[in-house]
Amino acid sequence: MGVKSRLAAVEAIPENGSLLFTVREEDGRKEEVVLVRGDDCVEAWKNFCQHETDQRLDRGFGAAMRDGEIICPKHGSMFDACTGHCDNGKAAGSTLVAVDVTVEDGDVYLVDDDCRYLYDGGIDDDDAPGTSSHLTF
Ligand code: FES
Repeated sequence: MGVKSRLAAVEAIPENGSLLFTVREEDGRKEEVVLVRGDDCVEAWKNFCQHETDQRLDRGFGAAMRDGEIICPKHGSMFDACTGHCDNGKAAGSTLVAVDVTVEDGDVYLVDDDCRYLYDGGIDDDDAPGTSSHLTF
């Protein structure tokens, strides 16, 4: 099992939005992840649509959500926040890429063996005040 990193308190996740953080993939790439609350779930998904994978779900202001579904900002396909599955629009039949998290005592932890936590915010935010990561490759 990989490193377990605390991401946020469950209560800090907006009900109709998301929290964004950046991870380091096994191959060294950075990847953005959205943390969401659905109906009776807390889940994390890679921050890109399955219709066009260069389309981010959260473009820096939190992902748009309605009725427990994440709405792609480009063509409006909606993904179930708990399962990641989409049954509508251009992304119909696809599922978001999951990142493993767990909830303990009201806090959310990243427990994914394939990536590790780098910092809060998007990939471009690593120079933001309050972050300490200035790694370059
Ligand atoms: S890019 Fe997301 S539905 Fe088309």
